[in-house]
Amino acid sequence: MRAMNSNESHLTNPEENINYIAALDIGSNKISLSIGQTLDGRFDALLGVVHHQCHGITSGRVTNLEAVTSTIRKLVVEAHEIIGFDVTEVYVGITDPEIAVHRNTAMVAVAGDSITDADIADVLEAAETAMPLRENEAILHVIPEQFLVNGHPVGDPVGRSGVRVDVETTVLTVPRVSILNVERVCRAAGLQVRDIFFSPLGTLEAVTHPRQRQLGVLLLDIGAGTTDVVMMEGDRLRYCDVVPIGGLSFTESLAGGLRCLREEAETIKVKCGMASPAYLENPGKTVDSRLLCGCAPVTYSQVSHILESRISEILHIALNRLHYAGIQLTAPHSIVITGGTAQLTGLRAFIQELIELPVEVGHANLPVGMFDLARQPVFSSAVGLVMYAAAHDDGRPSRMDVRVTDSKNSNVFKKLADFFGGFFD
Ligand SMILES: Nc1ncnc2c1ncn2[C@@H]1O[C@H](COP(=O)(O)OP(=O)(O)OP(=O)(O)O)[C@@H](O)[C@H]1O
Ligand SMILES: [Mg+2]
Repeated sequence: MRAMNSNESHLTNPEENINYIAALDIGSNKISLSIGQTLDGRFDALLGVVHHQCHGITSGRVTNLEAVTSTIRKLVVEAHEIIGFDVTEVYVGITDPEIAVHRNTAMVAVAGDSITDADIADVLEAAETAMPLRENEAILHVIPEQFLVNGHPVGDPVGRSGVRVDVETTVLTVPRVSILNVERVCRAAGLQVRDIFFSPLGTLEAVTHPRQRQLGVLLLDIGAGTTDVVMMEGDRLRYCDVVPIGGLSFTESLAGGLRCLREEAETIKVKCGMASPAYLENPGKTVDSRLLCGCAPVTYSQVSHILESRISEILHIALNRLHYAGIQLTAPHSIVITGGTAQLTGLRAFIQELIELPVEVGHANLPVGMFDLARQPVFSSAVGLVMYAAAHDDGRPSRMDVRVTDSKNSNVFKKLADFFGGFFD
């Protein structure tokens, strides 16, 4: 178990309108539980993240209910012991290789003199209800892209006068069983699910800036079992995809190619891996024999060749699908890579050379210094989820029941200070 925390100085006056948010990021390698603080309905601070490896998830999907439940239970206990929060309700972030993107429109007549929040809720509900679904398909998000009042596009329709309001939406769906399984494991672990999000949406908000999203940005969250692909342009979601391959396939290929154990291959990948042999200064150099426990000598070049072929495979699939969806990547678009596998040495340069657009490694937009551990790409989605949940929470306190435990705030802050910076290895 590992944890990381912010420190006390960033936390706000308890008399202000403070609320707490807990989010579970269900990844193929690890499950993270992150706790955030909102102030006046906006994300204010990250209070901590606890996480555990879990082998009950395959390509983003819960496949072993018991293993996932027991990992979540452990995380809840640790959130209580380490961060001082009694978590009873969570937002959950998932990815799924069968994520589907639909466009849909809906319209409602305006009852009063001007358009109200209730009219907006009605028109979004109409878009959700009218969405034709396949059997076993469930709606994950209904994202409003454009509102029209009396047929004219407007930014924010609330307060305007009109007789009808239309909405153009992007609807994201996943197999119903994916949602049911998430609800099952959370319930079995004693948690209520407040909402389920497509986690790359949170990651995108956490690691990119509004200007990038306006100009067009492609996010690649390269995790262990999936590569999540999301593109935003002009502040609209243009594309979502989940390629069911990630860094785990690199490890498996290394283990097969080098004839070593998976654990050894994982260490070699992280310590000696380079995205392409072209970037090696000394390709013939051999990997430290202590990492291989008696296997034949292995060169950095051999390791790198295997990694390059796996990376090329993922990029080939992701970019081909993007192409077939009719999306051209051209300036001023940019690319952001994040997730644990984005930490592979040379990967950023490799992708930049291949795509010929600026590529950066995405870190959660948190203050530098205070949150360096949580800014690692491996935690982008865990942090992104609390930020996204804060932004999309309607602020009704009764719906979020993350309670400060008996240890009370002062103790929480002390624990945060105690653990800050020293707990993560
Ligand atoms: N320095 C590194 N170099 C290469 N790979 C790394 C490095 N650090 C972590 N990884 C890889 O990152 C992966 C874990 O990433 P991450 O935690 O983002 O995945 P996840 O969210 O659990 O899974 P997913 O999002 O695919 O469902 C592992 O395969 C791990 O080997
Ligand atoms: Mg992930």
